[in-house]
Amino acid sequence: MRKRIVAGNWKMNLTLEEGQKLTSEITNMVNDELNEEITVVINPPFPHMQAVKKLIDGSKNIFLGAQNCSDKASGAFTGEVSATILASFGASYVIIGHSERREYFNETNEQLTEKVKLALSNNLTPIFCCGEPLEIREAGTHEAYVTEQLTKALFGFSAEEMQRLVLAYEPIWAIGTGRTASSDQAQEMHAAIRNHFAAKYGDSLAAGLSILYGGSCKPDNAQDLFSKPDVDGGLIGGASLKSRDFVDIIKSF
Ligand code: PGA
Repeated sequence: MRKRIVAGNWKMNLTLEEGQKLTSEITNMVNDELNEEITVVINPPFPHMQAVKKLIDGSKNIFLGAQNCSDKASGAFTGEVSATILASFGASYVIIGHSERREYFNETNEQLTEKVKLALSNNLTPIFCCGEPLEIREAGTHEAYVTEQLTKALFGFSAEEMQRLVLAYEPIWAIGTGRTASSDQAQEMHAAIRNHFAAKYGDSLAAGLSILYGGSCKPDNAQDLFSKPDVDGGLIGGASLKSRDFVDIIKSF
């Protein structure tokens, strides 16, 4: 069975003290309440990583992730953080290609490919994001748009590399807007994404890919979303900043 994953993306929120409090609460609740095998990933801002790692150590379900990594291996790139540095902090996952990075920092498919390469070579699992803006959804061309994003950034990877990725479908019109994709809209796109990878890499690789949904996922809609056959978990923004909400989402399978 493929991995079920719930990843929290704190974005640029929380002071160190707030982040430590949130992590302690999540860790205690997950250790006390979670009986199923669900992978939980916490993706804090870079400076919090060491403190978060310390607090989750010893919890078998919870892993450390980052929100981004550089497309360069090392060197004179002021302000950047490499995949090697993230790995040295004990990170296991890294979000790559979030729509906010694509939109506000002009990240290109070529750069995203480089980031995935560097993440993999440092044994980090990329959580690779895709998703369409509202006007594309309204024009009805969302499937073609998303599969093209994936083809351009990822189809150069070998099957051995590709099976180490996690994907996240995040319709941009649903991120932070309170407007969630319906579970049927999510299922339709997740199935299309899986078929797209099956056509290139074969059914068995595609069947093993975890595809997460992101975009205003909350405790009151997570169960419906996660009940769909091709939705393997969630990438959670706003609701990952509240321990009770985040853990309730984790328990929604
Ligand atoms: P949201 O963000 O849950 O606040 O909509 C999701 C994301 O951007 O990963």
